[in-house]
Amino acid sequence: MKKIIIDTDPGQDDAVAIMLALASPELEVVGLTIVAGNVPLDLTCRNARMICDLAGKPETKVYPGAKKPLNGPQVTAEHAHGNSGLDGIDVFDPITPLQEKDAIDFLLNTIEEHPPNSITLCPIGPLTNIALAITKQPAIKTRIAEIAMMGGGYFIQGNVTPSAEFNIFADPEAAEIVFRSGVPITMFPLDVTHKVLANKKRIECIKSVNNSASMALANMLSFYGKYNSKKYGEDGAPLHDPTVIAWLIAPSLFSGKACNVEIEVNSYLTRGATVVDWWGVTGRKENATVINEVNADGFFQLLYERLANLS
Ligand code: RIB
Ligand code: CA
Repeated sequence: MKKIIIDTDPGQDDAVAIMLALASPELEVVGLTIVAGNVPLDLTCRNARMICDLAGKPETKVYPGAKKPLNGPQVTAEHAHGNSGLDGIDVFDPITPLQEKDAIDFLLNTIEEHPPNSITLCPIGPLTNIALAITKQPAIKTRIAEIAMMGGGYFIQGNVTPSAEFNIFADPEAAEIVFRSGVPITMFPLDVTHKVLANKKRIECIKSVNNSASMALANMLSFYGKYNSKKYGEDGAPLHDPTVIAWLIAPSLFSGKACNVEIEVNSYLTRGATVVDWWGVTGRKENATVINEVNADGFFQLLYERLANLS
């Protein structure tokens, strides 16, 4: 069983990722660390707790993290996710508690208390919490098994600016710290996430799983699909974040290549861009495996099967 910590800014696609992880016996979700992102921290914390309730897992440990990026203005995405961050379902007061301990201390304590290379970090929001943990205790860099993260773009480039994807754009300095850390990284950029679209047919398949978790997800994705379909002219919303979790469970559904990835932090035009050396022209060290292909039908089949495990 792989022990993982999901660092998240829920977000409808984060909800799918978290439920997929909680429903999969191959994974032990040691905790959720929460970061400001799609909506401010107080809402991402509440949303994470709501998702755990909906998954029937109120025992899940949820830790509050960073309220704002390391540097620069706070960026949120209510335009895509709605004012609650989980539009598509009614907000409710969750049973799942918010832990007293801060997310950074939880990350550090967990990595230090477990054997080296036994904890996988799965950031699916801005990388602020991960960067803060690495900066506070650099020694953890050699103890983290790997970082499997959603963020960035290469051939697709950006979704917030022409050249920057939201998770990186929201905190470029944090992303630079993570990508220069030397920790093994597997990166799921827009290039692969836009190949798993939650179209109407697939939302119906999620609904037909017919439990409270799948019904809630179907409603969230119906809302989330409206903005994305209008903006991209695609049939349904790209399921960005769950690609990370699906890869941990079924890596053969995906493929990509080792590349050097650097983060642009200075340019006013391209700040937050992931500069992916796909063709190996720079000679810079390959610091990330960049995933660009997925078996979309296999991904959704896995999702339907696993959601059925939730009460
Ligand atoms: O650009 C997509 C990413 O930004 C996803 O993680 C989504 O949840 C938002 O955080
Ligand atoms: Ca997210």
